Amino acid sequence: MPGPTPSTPRRSRPVILRDGGALTLLLAGGLGLLLFSWFSHKQAVVGLESGGFASVVHAVPPLKEGEGPPRIVPPEGVPSLSAEACGQCHPEAYAEWQQSQHSKGWRNPLFQAEFARADTLWLCLNCHTPLQAQQPEVVTGVEAGHIERPLTEPNPAWDPALRDEGVTCAGCHVREGMIYGPRPDVRAPHPVAHDPNLASGGMCDTCHQIPEGPFPFYEGAPCADRFDFADGPWARNDFTCNSCHMRTRLRGPEGNQREGSGHFFPGAHSPAMLEEAIAIRVAPTLPLWADKQKVPFNIRLTNRGAGHLLPIGRPDRRITVTWEVIDGSGRVVRSREDTVTRRMLPGPVQVDLRDGRIQPLSFREFTFKARSAPRHVLRVTVRYHLSGASEKARLVRHWDLPADTPDHTVLFAQEYSLSPGPYRPPASPS
Ligand code: HEC
Ligand code: HEC
Ligand code: HEC
Ligand code: HEC
Ligand code: HEC
Repeated sequence: MPGPTPSTPRRSRPVILRDGGALTLLLAGGLGLLLFSWFSHKQAVVGLESGGFASVVHAVPPLKEGEGPPRIVPPEGVPSLSAEACGQCHPEAYAEWQQSQHSKGWRNPLFQAEFARADTLWLCLNCHTPLQAQQPEVVTGVEAGHIERPLTEPNPAWDPALRDEGVTCAGCHVREGMIYGPRPDVRAPHPVAHDPNLASGGMCDTCHQIPEGPFPFYEGAPCADRFDFADGPWARNDFTCNSCHMRTRLRGPEGNQREGSGHFFPGAHSPAMLEEAIAIRVAPTLPLWADKQKVPFNIRLTNRGAGHLLPIGRPDRRITVTWEVIDGSGRVVRSREDTVTRRMLPGPVQVDLRDGRIQPLSFREFTFKARSAPRHVLRVTVRYHLSGASEKARLVRHWDLPADTPDHTVLFAQEYSLSPGPYRPPASPS
């Protein structure tokens, strides 16, 4: 049985504000919070009844209202649901997946810290450990429509080792005793069925696209990747999620190789993928300058390779540009930070206040005016952040996040002379 086809994507969350305006922001925030406290519980339940929750996971069959994933058993010919068992016969996909963030869906320290803090815990598990056997409890319903109060039973089939596998092979490939693959007519030592959603990228939506409406109730918004991709130039040119995140690789012994889909799923944790996503160009707008003259430097950040908005995914992902004027003795005498991100109402209400992310094949520019002086330099650093600094500090302080958990990648770092005279580009391009 093929999974449900993805529904027509549309942008569900209104963007209240595109440019600044503190008053509007305050009003919008206040109104949002009011609406939230008034509606939240009711709405969360309406979301369930209207099928919102069923759309969270269909890698396993659609869930009944308020229930966790159903029990699945290993298909005939496969000894267990573990990735290692699949890896016996699919060694390349296994080795690639092991390096992917999917395999860290549970062990990931950032997830562990946020999970410890969250209220609606069981919901997290349906995307981060999507098989019933990965979850210590079976959710049979929710108490009086309150999504944060699940009714649970202990799960006798719980397998802690399987839980460690996070988004494991079976989470995407197995349901009803069948292994679903991207191609029709495959002969295998286990039952196989064809699911066109695998090749089309439609199956990604089950975890990468929050249900519609502002109240999906996740605590720490997950992502709306389909909305952020759907109307763009890449989608219009028949690119799918898999075109970039599951690039074709050669498999099998030399001389007898065939094409297969890469299972690295590279994203924001991959410096190479970030490099591919963004082009960075910095230049002064003057060819030469006198002493103590203000010299505007311009930076252009181009989304050249991400098929969707940049940054995509969780709202705490962000790109920062740090400008620092450094004097002859190495002291920072002035600095500023510009940020490319999306701001949402705090808490589980999913309403964008401001979306400053970069559209595909488009760019954003910032200008910094530095005053020229002998032996002064302007240092420009561009970073991609997985989480906000204050948020991370909170998790380290209260929720045992190891302080050395990587939280950013430096995308660009360069120093420009501010000494009076003609512009001298840095010797080594970054
Ligand atoms: C005993 C060996 C063996 C085991 C164990 C095994 N497979 Fe397979 N599988 C095969 C062979 C052989 C084929 C057919 C040739 C091919 O496409 O690689 C196949 C086909 C597939 C396909 C369809 C490929 C396509 O092109 O459509 C998928 C998906 C798949 N397996 C996933 C899995 C998963 C997930 C597991 C673990 C739950 C698993 N397999 C366990 C041997 C195995
Ligand atoms: C069963 C749920 C599920 C499905 C289905 C799923 N993902 Fe994911 N994906 C996740 C979770 C959970 C994470 C975050 C794991 C973590 O970092 O803890 C993730 C992370 C990612 C990342 C981010 C990697 C990074 O470096 O941050 C990419 C890219 C990605 N998935 C692509 C895909 C694509 C493409 C598909 C469809 C072929 C897909 N995913 C299907 C749950 C899923
Ligand atoms: C044209 C190539 C391309 C296509 C098509 C594409 N992506 Fe991406 N994606 C990228 C690049 C490059 C990045 C790295 C930049 C970033 O993280 O924002 C990325 C990042 C991501 C991330 C990482 C976000 C994070 O927070 O870790 C996720 C998740 C993701 N994409 C999901 C998807 C999904 C789902 C689709 C299909 C709806 C898709 N992508 C289509 C190129 C693409
Ligand atoms: C996040 C979802 C996801 C996970 C996890 C995942 N796969 Fe896949 N897999 C896919 C998708 C989607 C395709 C189809 C890609 C395409 O056709 O572009 C695929 C294709 C395949 C194929 C078809 C043959 C090929 O190489 O293209 C095999 C075999 C396979 N996967 C095995 C595995 C195994 C083994 C694991 C675990 C080690 C695994 N998959 C984990 C989503 C997943
Ligand atoms: C609808 C599916 C879904 C649910 C429910 C969900 N997540 Fe996620 N989560 C994802 C996906 C997909 C990603 C991939 C990153 C991205 O797209 O930005 C992710 C990424 C993350 C990350 C970032 C990991 C990293 O290292 O970058 C954390 C932390 C996280 N989730 C925590 C949680 C917590 C805690 C909950 C429950 C309160 C939760 N998630 C519920 C799908 C989900």
